[in-house]
Amino acid sequence: MSPNGFPATVADAPRSVAPSVPVAASSGLPLADLGGGHAVPDDAQLAQLLSPRPVSHNEQPAAHAQDHAPFYFLQQDVPAKPASKAFGSNPVTSGSQRGTSDWFSNTPSPAGFGLPSEAELIALLKPAQFGLPSGSGGAASSESAAPYYFLEHSQASHSAPSVKHGQHASPPSWPGSHAGVGTARPPFDVNVVRRDFPILQERVNGRQLVWLDNAATTQKPQSVIDRLSYFYQHENSNIHRAAHTLAARATDAYESARDKVRGFLNAASSNEIVFVRGTTEAINLVAQSWGRQNIVKDDEIVISWLEHHANIVPWQQLCAEKGAKLRVIPVDDDGQILLDEYAKLLTPKTKLVSFTQVSNALGTITPAKQMVEMAHSVGAKVLVDGAQSVSHLRADVQYLDCDWFVFSGHKIFGPTGIGVLYGKEALLNETQPWQGGGNMIKDVTFEHTQYHAAPGRFEAGTGNIADAVGLGAALDYVNQLGIENIAMYEHQLLQYATHQLRSIPGLRLIGTAEHKASVLSFVLKDHKTEHVGAALAREGIAVRSGHHCAQPILRRFGLEATVRPSLAFYNNCADVDKLIAAVRRIQNGQHAI
Ligand code: ALA
Repeated sequence: MSPNGFPATVADAPRSVAPSVPVAASSGLPLADLGGGHAVPDDAQLAQLLSPRPVSHNEQPAAHAQDHAPFYFLQQDVPAKPASKAFGSNPVTSGSQRGTSDWFSNTPSPAGFGLPSEAELIALLKPAQFGLPSGSGGAASSESAAPYYFLEHSQASHSAPSVKHGQHASPPSWPGSHAGVGTARPPFDVNVVRRDFPILQERVNGRQLVWLDNAATTQKPQSVIDRLSYFYQHENSNIHRAAHTLAARATDAYESARDKVRGFLNAASSNEIVFVRGTTEAINLVAQSWGRQNIVKDDEIVISWLEHHANIVPWQQLCAEKGAKLRVIPVDDDGQILLDEYAKLLTPKTKLVSFTQVSNALGTITPAKQMVEMAHSVGAKVLVDGAQSVSHLRADVQYLDCDWFVFSGHKIFGPTGIGVLYGKEALLNETQPWQGGGNMIKDVTFEHTQYHAAPGRFEAGTGNIADAVGLGAALDYVNQLGIENIAMYEHQLLQYATHQLRSIPGLRLIGTAEHKASVLSFVLKDHKTEHVGAALAREGIAVRSGHHCAQPILRRFGLEATVRPSLAFYNNCADVDKLIAAVRRIQNGQHAI
């Protein structure tokens, strides 16, 4: 529990939705035993299992967790195996012996895009068919079963499930990202996770909502909603400036959220975490403070072609004011950064490089660590935009060694109106504040003001206290799932969705980088993107269609707009299947457009 008595973890949080109902029990399906004592659903059962089930808000967990069979998408409790190639080479033939590290190999697959066959995908998405160590005993055996629960331990203590050392295979490895040490979590069950997000039960146009607009914003778990409500019911006060009890509670809650962000980003100190309104404000803060103080005429600022407008316009404004030049790293036809071209842009004139870790329009994962190193080699400072990466990949600022890292709370299951600017402490403290006012000062006279050190010097006025606390709760939730688990699950779902979309005649995927996260931008021959978006909305499927606040990169592909489904860990194969069926109906002219 927190000092304020508020449950400190997702597991402790009060819920109106049953938190942890094992899939087999929640589905009510009899389980087929497909050998080896492991209960596995047949195709019909799998289809049902993947379909979300309405859940009563009063529903209680069906039974003791360990009584239930493991129907998990992600089962990492596997012995290590010599690395094989990524998808497309031999992903499932080794069955239960297959490790996870090779799924995320950076080695390009022979097929280039690394897609598994349909049979392989089906097998991969039937979790109990892989990952269980041979001879590990029956699925219902509580003794031998892996710890399948992440949200709520079945023990009365509600403590986080223990993870035995060495139990998990290597986490994914992306360029610019790495797995945190000692951060492994047991695998999760998407159907259980879905019940933590009440809005996923919403009916839209007579259908159950299918939320595939996660790159625009993410939905909120009950624990975040409850945390906000608790704050306003029991803690609400201004912070840092009163001696009364609620001021202490609110200050504790706010500063505890800052500590959670520090841990989440692996920053060296909580002093490096500045709360802002979101990614856009964070980038503008750097441009308007450090940028205005350090950029001079003929300096160069390098960004990439992938950037969204928030990582273009502030630098353009700064360049216009200072007489500096904006240089742009080109991308190839798959939407991948051309590193050779980037190297050519880096000169002693380069004072700043600012680029995204994941493209919001294409889903490309950039080689962030390498790009930071290259920028530093010419003495430039580097800002990494994590708006689209933090909910999908581990963002470790010490590993990346970036000078600033920015993200928005609402893209990572937290509230809107709150975000984070990470900056190296010395750099923040040698940067003059952007906005002046209360909270950021040590002493004020009419002649002179002394500023606080970071982070206070950049938090003028009353900030968004409650939503910072809500962001802390969102990060707790993500940590309980484990970001590596999320990355692996989403990677499989992305591969599945990519494969299905590619089978639709007349559909062109935009953004086919080898390393991608979440995003499936496409155009459909003879159909306007806004019409496709509207037709999907009529079926309860939410996607963004338009320019995604990233016009330059779409124009790089000769387009003004795409349809952009984007995934989160609470999406499942049923969501993808509904999308695919609806797009096929649109393509076949079965939709009145
Ligand atoms: N940046 C957000 C998006 O990609 C708004 O949709």
